[in-house]
Amino acid sequence: MRAGLLGMGKYNPPQVVTNQDLEKRIDTSDEWIRSRTGIEERRIADDQTNTSDMAFEAAKQALESAEISADQIGLILVATVTPDHSFPSVSTMIQERLGAKNAAAMDISAACAGFMYGVVTAKQFVESNTYDYVLVVGVEKLSKITDWEDRNTAVLFGDGAGATVVGKVSGDRGILSFELGADGGGGKYLMHNKFIEMNGREVFKFAVRQMGESALAVTEKAGLAKEDVDFLIPHQANIRIMEAARERLGLPVEKMSKSVHKYGNTSAASIPISLVDDLAEGRVKDDDVIVMVGFGSGLTWGALCIKWGK
Ligand code: ACO
Repeated sequence: MRAGLLGMGKYNPPQVVTNQDLEKRIDTSDEWIRSRTGIEERRIADDQTNTSDMAFEAAKQALESAEISADQIGLILVATVTPDHSFPSVSTMIQERLGAKNAAAMDISAACAGFMYGVVTAKQFVESNTYDYVLVVGVEKLSKITDWEDRNTAVLFGDGAGATVVGKVSGDRGILSFELGADGGGGKYLMHNKFIEMNGREVFKFAVRQMGESALAVTEKAGLAKEDVDFLIPHQANIRIMEAARERLGLPVEKMSKSVHKYGNTSAASIPISLVDDLAEGRVKDDDVIVMVGFGSGLTWGALCIKWGK
């Protein structure tokens, strides 16, 4: 039996910041942001809401949706580059709040590819019969490391959390293949010192190439052809990067997850947040073949091919 995703949850902070709101603060325009990125608005957490609060809400929902109680979880993995503190980890903070007393806990730092790294790690523990259930959360409060005066980065990011429970699924469902990778030589293109610093053009070039290649690689590793893929969930960083991956797979627009216009780039949270909306709105159904693909600072990347369903 393969590991698969048993349930999903998400948290989007209620505060909406539109492109028009940003026009009032920095030298930018709604037209520039939309045409270069596809983003129309983003959600920003208030001062009282930290990363662990968003992670907790998404995790609670994922447990309910998977019909798993907190004490059944063997391991909690939280992918984030914006933890509340460098220690204790966000994973231990939510372990306590969930009452997951039997769970080990650790955070993963792989930026926007973090959720892919988390799910692949969880799969190893589940398929080796080490743990029955692993909770994986992707969460970011990027607003606290964004320079709101820097138009190159301030328009791109948002806050939020997405979560899943990884466990064994039935029949031929589950994670069919995966790919993870890293190129530390590209670390200089996307860094956090005081704030996020980015060479947008270099990241863009890397992302366009890597998203397409990884999406194709996991399809082939699963023994499938491009035509067998029902749905693509790319990291929601920029619509032009997402479109490039979609075109590499030869999929029509309606077969790609798109939530970047509503939430901006929520880094490790973007793929699970987008999937929750796709499930709620009927775009993903049982037995669909789904490719998920992400890239991020590091540089890192990761992709999964999943046959959906429990
Ligand atoms: N509003 C108006 N003008 C702007 C803005 C803005 N918000 N930001 C930049 N500009 C200007 C630039 O200063 C530049 O002006 P110049 O030519 O006078 O210097 C001009 O717009 C064009 O800039 P480009 O860099 O050519 O714009 P490009 O088409 O490359 O788009 C963008 C920029 C959107 C940042 C793009 O490069 C991109 O999406 N890169 C990938 C970024 C990304 O996905 N980062 C997240 C990675 S995931 C993670 O780990 C967090």
